[in-house]
Amino acid sequence: MVILGIESSCDETAAAVVEDGRRVLSSVIASQVEEHKIYGGVVPEIASRRHSEAIVGVVEEALRKSGKSLSQLDAVAVTYAPGLIGALLVGVNFAKGLSLSSGLPLAPVHHLRGHIAANYLTSPELEPPFLCLVASGGHSHIIQVKSYTQLSVLGRTRDDAAGEAFDKAARAMGIPYPGGVELDRIAESGREDAYRLPHPKVEEAPLDFSFSGLKTAVLNLLHNAKQRGEEVSIPDLCASYRKAVVRCLTENFLKAAEETGENKLVIAGGVSANRLLRRELQALCEKTGRTLWMPELSLCGDNAAMIASQGYYEFLAGNTADMSLNACAQMSIE
Ligand code: KG4
Ligand code: ZN
Repeated sequence: MVILGIESSCDETAAAVVEDGRRVLSSVIASQVEEHKIYGGVVPEIASRRHSEAIVGVVEEALRKSGKSLSQLDAVAVTYAPGLIGALLVGVNFAKGLSLSSGLPLAPVHHLRGHIAANYLTSPELEPPFLCLVASGGHSHIIQVKSYTQLSVLGRTRDDAAGEAFDKAARAMGIPYPGGVELDRIAESGREDAYRLPHPKVEEAPLDFSFSGLKTAVLNLLHNAKQRGEEVSIPDLCASYRKAVVRCLTENFLKAAEETGENKLVIAGGVSANRLLRRELQALCEKTGRTLWMPELSLCGDNAAMIASQGYYEFLAGNTADMSLNACAQMSIE
C-alpha cells in the first residue's frame, strides 16, 4: 500500500511517499526556519503564508522523486492536529482537495503519533507494545503505545515542553532560534558540572515533567552574573543545562519503565536528536537490560514520511475521514 503523507503543523512544509508504512520512497521538506529566525520564534501568520506557497511544489516533488503517479497511490495521510491552526489548515485543505479530485481515501494523523512512527521507518522490526518518550518543541510525554493506534499518556509536562525549554534557555544565552540544536552542539565542549541547577520534580505526579523552573534558574544565573560583572562560560552553561534537562527526561522515562515492566523503550520528536539524551539512554538501557529504539537523525524533526507511516496504520485501523475533516490546534494523542 502506497501512501502520500502531508505535514504542515509548524514551520516545515513536507510531503513524502511511503510504502506499507515502512519504506520511504521519497521525502521532501521545505523549511521556513531562516525566515522565522529574525523574530526569535515561529510567526504563525508567516508560517501559514509560506505553507500555502510551498505546498503544491513540495507535493509534486515528493511524487516525482517516488516514481509514483497519483493513480498509483492508495491513500493520502495528513497531519490535522495539534499545531498552529492556520498552518495545519493549509495541509488539511490541500489533502481534502486532492482526495476529492482523485477519489483517494483520507487518513488524518495526529502529529505526535507521527513522531512515534518515525521509528517504524528507522527500525523495520519495531512493533508495539512499547514505552515512548515523545519530546518536541510543543510537547513532552511519556506514552504507553499499546498498539499502532491505541496509546495512553503516563506522564506529561506541566509547563514548558523539553524543546521549548532548550530554545528558551538558548535564547537567553544569545543563541539564535531554534536554539536547542545549537545548544546541544555547544554543550559538547562544556563542563556539565560547572553550574548547579535545580532538579525539578512534580511531587504528586512523579512521571510528569516541569521545566520552567530550570529555565528561570538560567535566566537568574545570567542576570546575577551580569550585575556582578562576572563572566559566564556559555559552553559550560549549555552543558550543565543540557545535563539537567536530560536528567529529568531519563529519570522519569526509566521510572515509567519500572512501573509498567516495559523493556522496549523508544524515543521520538525533535529533542530525540539530542546527543546527550541518546548517549545517556543508550547507556542506561544497556545497564538495565532494556532495548532502546531511536529515530535516525533525519527523521527526528518534522517530516511527512512519519505522517505517511502512521497514516498507513490509521488507515488499516479504519480511521479515515471525509470532507468534514477539520484541523485542531490542540488534541490529545489518545
Ligand atoms: O518535533 P519538532 O521538530 O517540532 C515540533 O513538533 O515541535 O521539535 C522541534 C524542537 C525544537 O524545540 C528544537 O530546538 C528541538 O526540537 N531540538 C533539539 C535538538 N534538535 C531539535 N533540542 C535539543 N537538542 C537537539 N539536538
Ligand atoms: Zn514535531
